[in-house]
Amino acid sequence: MNNLNAEKKKMKAIICEKYGSADQVLELQEIDIPEPKDDEVLIRNYGSSINTGDIMARSGKAPKALFWGLRQLMGPMLRLAYFGLTKPKSKVPGSGFSGEIVSVGKKVSDWKVGDAVYGYSENFGALAQYLTVPSSIIAKKPSNLTFQEAAAVVGGATPALLAFRDLRQPQKGQKVLIIGASGGVGTFGIQIAKNVYGAEITAVCGPTNIEMVKEIGADHAINYRDTDYTKIDQKFPIIFDAIGANTPSRCKNILTDDGVFISNNPVNSPKTIWYMMTNGFRKKKLLSGTANEGSDNMETLREWVEAGKIKPVIDTIYPLSQTAEAHKHYETGHAKGRVVISIE
Ligand SMILES: NC(=O)c1ccc[n+]([C@@H]2O[C@H](COP(=O)([O-])OP(=O)(O)OC[C@H]3O[C@@H](n4cnc5c(N)ncnc54)[C@H](OP(=O)(O)O)[C@@H]3O)[C@@H](O)[C@H]2O)c1
Repeated sequence: MNNLNAEKKKMKAIICEKYGSADQVLELQEIDIPEPKDDEVLIRNYGSSINTGDIMARSGKAPKALFWGLRQLMGPMLRLAYFGLTKPKSKVPGSGFSGEIVSVGKKVSDWKVGDAVYGYSENFGALAQYLTVPSSIIAKKPSNLTFQEAAAVVGGATPALLAFRDLRQPQKGQKVLIIGASGGVGTFGIQIAKNVYGAEITAVCGPTNIEMVKEIGADHAINYRDTDYTKIDQKFPIIFDAIGANTPSRCKNILTDDGVFISNNPVNSPKTIWYMMTNGFRKKKLLSGTANEGSDNMETLREWVEAGKIKPVIDTIYPLSQTAEAHKHYETGHAKGRVVISIE
């Protein structure tokens, strides 16, 4: 291990050995520092952030936004396919990371010790002082962000990138409605649609977040607690539901004839599934997909951060020892921007 203190072979990490609630299953422990394989790098990690995937990997359950029956069915399927059928495959949870390379595998030539990087570990392991990841998945950390701020970009910005770069790019001045605009994904959605594509943004959020969404670029804001935005006298060519709170059929009166409803969570009711099968996909009115956290996308986001087009909105930064609190806070569904873990 190149510049790792030979005596310091242990690290602090969050351990999760069974599925359950955050308080029950997340525990801070000292464990061995992993060794990078030939195509991997070892990273001294300083930050992580909490994403829906992290909650699923800890609880063994599908996202809450799915309707009840599908959630019961999807849980075991997701465990079988990704997380581990009876217990988490990876003892150390956490997917987003941001840190400094401290050692490189024999076959790694494009990265060196000392490089500041960030990315998303599909195999988890990011809630720890050190993690190993394939060198192909990392990207340069945005130079104008701290490690914790960079970790806040991971997982939150890519679903918004998918929505506005890949699924439907807004034209300059085009009206875009964003539901859940104050959350981890929505805050990036506002900035990407506004600062990258020049759209006119209407943000749907709660009363305490109106000022914040306007500060980061929303032209208008609607308080969902006192206004039924599906009944307003306006039509939008693009609606982005960043949290899976609504359905395209309920929003049909505010969607233009050729408009699209982009959902970050399209299977939130049996009605939406029916809509998907009958109107949605066939008539291309409902768009959705899976965010890609690969290094190309993380590089694009780095460029946008460095150009001042996007920046993370951070709700709270918790120390590693309070990861369970961070999970619980994210799970309330009322975070203002991103929930971040700082790893000293
Ligand atoms: N497609 C993909 O690949 C992909 C990838 C990652 C995540 N996702 C999906 O993205 C979603 C998570 O997004 P997120 O991390 O941004 O969520 P989040 O951070 O938990 O969103 C929280 C925000 O939503 C607001 N909110 C709650 N209920 C609302 C409502 N009815 N109307 C408008 N705003 C409301 C809250 O404001 P108040 O406090 O004022 O209520 C809060 O600020 C999940 O559904 C997940 O499955 C999809």
